[in-house]
Amino acid sequence: MSIEIEVLNGDASWELAHPLFKAIWPPEVVAQLPWAGITFAHADLRVLVQDDTGDVLCHVGLYRRMITWNGQKMHIGGIGGMLTRADVRNRGLATMALNAAIQTFQAEGTVNFATLFCAPDRAPFYMARGFKPFDGTVYVEQPNQGRVRFAAIAPYVHDLKRTAPTLGTIDLGGLPW
Ligand SMILES: CC(C)(COP(=O)(O)OP(=O)(O)OC[C@H]1O[C@@H](n2cnc3c(N)ncnc32)[C@H](O)[C@@H]1OP(=O)(O)O)[C@@H](O)C(=O)NCCC(=O)NCCS
Repeated sequence: MSIEIEVLNGDASWELAHPLFKAIWPPEVVAQLPWAGITFAHADLRVLVQDDTGDVLCHVGLYRRMITWNGQKMHIGGIGGMLTRADVRNRGLATMALNAAIQTFQAEGTVNFATLFCAPDRAPFYMARGFKPFDGTVYVEQPNQGRVRFAAIAPYVHDLKRTAPTLGTIDLGGLPW
């Protein structure tokens, strides 16, 4: 199987990515997940791994955000919506997509560190790929609630332009990813 990996505009590529989201995270599955009921941001960019027929095998969303960490404004990169089609898992596709996401942020040169959120069963995957736990507090915004503490899924950070903080308070200043 030959594959192609691309980094695309988030809105323009949603139509391509949507079938994978529907297959892996249909509403009845999401309802059982720790992040059920949370409103997430739309990706600014997407890494798509496609087969030679154009089917999307793997996806990860990239988010750019000016956050505050301990009151200090900082540009960071978000990573979310990491998905590999069930029949092509354990072949390194997610690893490849995640590397492409990190390289994209590195190439931008202005992204201080990357952040993602995940359930405990996924943490070893990310920790084996350069992420470390953020042990501080995270605030986000949610419709009809305003600024709320975000603790449904745990934050992990990855060094980029600077060493990522692992303590303190991060305020995403918007929807989580
Ligand atoms: C989590 C998820 C994205 C991983 O996707 P994937 O494409 O299977 O990931 P990879 O193949 O890169 O790595 C998975 C494992 O496959 C194995 N693997 C990786 N590359 C391999 C290769 N070339 N050959 C054989 N095995 C390989 C490794 O054991 C690896 O895990 P480890 O290195 O951490 O032990 C996928 O399981 C998924 O979509 N899950 C459902 C949605 C979800 O939970 N997403 C995460 C939300 S935070």
